[in-house]
Amino acid sequence: MEKHLKVSAIKDGTVIDHIPTKALFKVIKILKLEDCSQMVTFGNNLDSRAMGTKAIIKIANRYFADDEVNRIALVAPNAKLNTIRDYEVVEKRVVEIPKNIKGIVHCFNPKCITNAESIITRFEVLSDKPIELKCFYCEKITGENEMLFF
Ligand code: CTP
Ligand code: ZN
Repeated sequence: MEKHLKVSAIKDGTVIDHIPTKALFKVIKILKLEDCSQMVTFGNNLDSRAMGTKAIIKIANRYFADDEVNRIALVAPNAKLNTIRDYEVVEKRVVEIPKNIKGIVHCFNPKCITNAESIITRFEVLSDKPIELKCFYCEKITGENEMLFF
């Protein structure tokens, strides 16, 4: 039996669970949690029955819109969002890879204009398993293993 939670329960806010351990700091960056003034707690390399190990992030008093959290699907496709109100889980959501991605990832093509000038990258998601992103500017495909995050 678990004696206590590895990362303390929160009263109100959002718990992002089932994050792959390697994606924890990318998720923090994508959601701009560096700039968050609310209490943010996280744990990494926690035991998980489903994943072996996992990471978790808890953000007090913050709630996220679907399009905000769907941005993390590129790195944490199985993440689960739990909305907490007065210590209770009142909603569970899964993340979905959006059809279009703006920013977040660099274009893999070194000759792409987005790598030469300060233009925000834009991609169409051709496939989500494995991830294939087609650049709006140069039409080259950035694959899952080539994704480099801003
Ligand atoms: N949690 C929290 N603070 C609360 C309530 C829940 O931090 N006041 C966290 C739990 O520690 C857990 C997550 O929110 O990591 C989801 O809670 P719960 O649904 O109770 O857990 P599980 O059933 O294990 O979730 P899952 O659906 O992911 O299996
Ligand atoms: Zn490009």
